[in-house]
Order: sequence, then C-alpha cells, then structure tokens
Amino acid sequence: MPGLWWFSISVLVVFVAVLYQLENSPSVEPPRMANDFNTKEEDYKKLNKSCFILGATGETGQELLKEIIHRQLFSKITVIGRRKLPLEDEAYKDVVQEVVDFDKLDDSAAAFQGHDVGFCCLGTTKAKSGEAGFIRVDHDYVLKSAQLAKAGGCKHFNLESSKGADKGSSFLYLRVKGEVEAEVGELDFERYTIFRPAVLLCDRKESRPTEWMTRKVLAPIAYMFPSALSVPVKVLAKAMVNNVVLQSDQKAELLENKAIHMLGNMEKTKG
Ligand SMILES: NC(=O)c1ccc[n+]([C@@H]2O[C@H](COP(=O)([O-])OP(=O)(O)OC[C@H]3O[C@@H](n4cnc5c(N)ncnc54)[C@H](OP(=O)(O)O)[C@@H]3O)[C@@H](O)[C@H]2O)c1
Repeated sequence: MPGLWWFSISVLVVFVAVLYQLENSPSVEPPRMANDFNTKEEDYKKLNKSCFILGATGETGQELLKEIIHRQLFSKITVIGRRKLPLEDEAYKDVVQEVVDFDKLDDSAAAFQGHDVGFCCLGTTKAKSGEAGFIRVDHDYVLKSAQLAKAGGCKHFNLESSKGADKGSSFLYLRVKGEVEAEVGELDFERYTIFRPAVLLCDRKESRPTEWMTRKVLAPIAYMFPSALSVPVKVLAKAMVNNVVLQSDQKAELLENKAIHMLGNMEKTKG
C-alpha cells in the first residue's frame, strides 16, 4: 500500500512539474508587446481595411466576430459560411453575409474578392464528420478558401490551426492540421499567421462529450496554469485581433498557445 501511495505522489509531482514547465516555457515566437498599442489601433482603423471570417458560426468565429465589431477595426466585415448567422443586433447591421457551397467554392470566388485580411476558423471533428469529412473541411475547404482569398487580393491570412499540428504526425488530426498549415504557407501571402491554440475553453452549444469532460478536468488546471493546456476562446479572439493591429517584420508567424495568451491579454498591459 505505501508503494502505491508513493507511486501516486510521484506521478502527481511529475504531472505538476510538466505543467509548470509548459506554463513557463518560452513561446516559440514571443509576441511583440507595444506600449503604444492604442495609437497603433487608432492608426489601423484609419486604413479602412476590410476583412472576412470563415467559420463565424463556430465557437471561435463567433467570438472573433464579436471582438472585431466591438473594436471597429475594419471598414467592411464579411462572414463566409454555409449558412446565415442570425445577426439581429444593431451593431451587426453592416456585416455582409455570403452563403456558399464549400463543395463548389469556385462558383463563389466573388465572395473572396477584395478583402485585406482573412480569418479562417473552419473545422470539424472526425467524430462528427468521419475521416473523409474531417479532411474535406479541415484541409480541402481551408486550402481552397485560402487560394481564392489570395487570388482575390487578401494580404494577411490568419489560420486557426491546433497545438501539436505536424505534417509528419501519425495522428490524423495533427497531420491534417500540419499539412494545411504548410500548403497555405506556399500561397505566399504578404503576411501569414498561424494560431496553434491548445484545448478551447468555451460553453460549446454542440454536444461533444469527450471535449466537455476534458474541459471539466482542465478547469482547475487552467486556474493554476492558465496557458499550459488550454485557452479561452475570448482570449484567442482578442489575440487574433491584437496581432492584426501589431505590425510584424516577419512574413510568416507561428503563434503557439503561450503566445496566444500573451497577445490575448495584452489589453491589461497596453499603455
Ligand atoms: N475544440 C478545440 O479544443 C480546438 C483546439 C485547438 C484547435 N481547434 C481548431 O480550431 C478551429 C475552430 O474550432 P471551433 O471549436 O471554434 O470550431 P466550431 O465551433 O466547431 O465551428 C466550426 C466552423 O466550421 C464550420 N464548418 C464545420 N463543418 C463544415 C462543413 N462541412 N461545411 C462548411 N462549414 C463547416 C462550422 O459551420 P456550421 O456552424 O454551419 O457547422 C463553423 O462555422 C478548428 O479548426 C479546430 O480544429 C479546436
């Protein structure tokens, strides 16, 4: 019995040490903190840029749209999806909605024309759509959308990918995410930002029991080690918007979970 006790304690100590390490590890690319953030944001607004959001009906996309509307950063906002969002609030009255058939995206090339910035928050799961369906959405739809956006003049493409994305992975999810990251990169956008969030913390409307259970387990861990294993979608949405405001001297940016937390919480530190 004491053996089991010591084993449990050891496992717990190792687990906490790993979390501590994850929480305190330097991000792959530390975000550029700016004391003059407010000025940068005001300057950005004056540029009258336009943007589109793919996946605005999803958990990240909805939060991103809310943040973009709240910040009034763009002069024109278009959401592109397979169905319309019920946008009844006055604040959303100027949002353009493009309903497209993702299996015939070439027919909707016009929807992708004339946007300066694109955000892609598309995605499904193998459990929901099967393996082929997952690849179709998370790879084919994402890549085709990026191609049409590039052809339509998009300068800055933002892709929501996932922690652990790796085109060499033996796990389908991580491999597909890694492949699509790389293939979108080959399109050579003037600026390309990949976000690799860990588990998304949100009140998901759709029933996903495994994810629900994971979130429950992660809640106390997130309290002590906020950026180790998860990220609230609100923080991710803020990070996506803040990163647009901050200029980058890098053509391609890879923002891991820790960097997302830092960027998403920038308002607390901005001057
Ligand atoms: N869940 C996590 O913990 C987690 C962690 C890291 C990264 N990610 C990645 O982050 C991204 C966004 O995740 P999320 O949870 O915010 O997304 P979500 O809530 O599942 O929403 C996904 C979006 O993609 C659209 N979509 C799904 N299947 C489609 C199809 N067959 N045709 C057209 N559109 C389709 C949805 O449209 P409808 O509303 O019409 O279905 C929705 O707008 C995904 O790529 C996901 O893999 C997720």
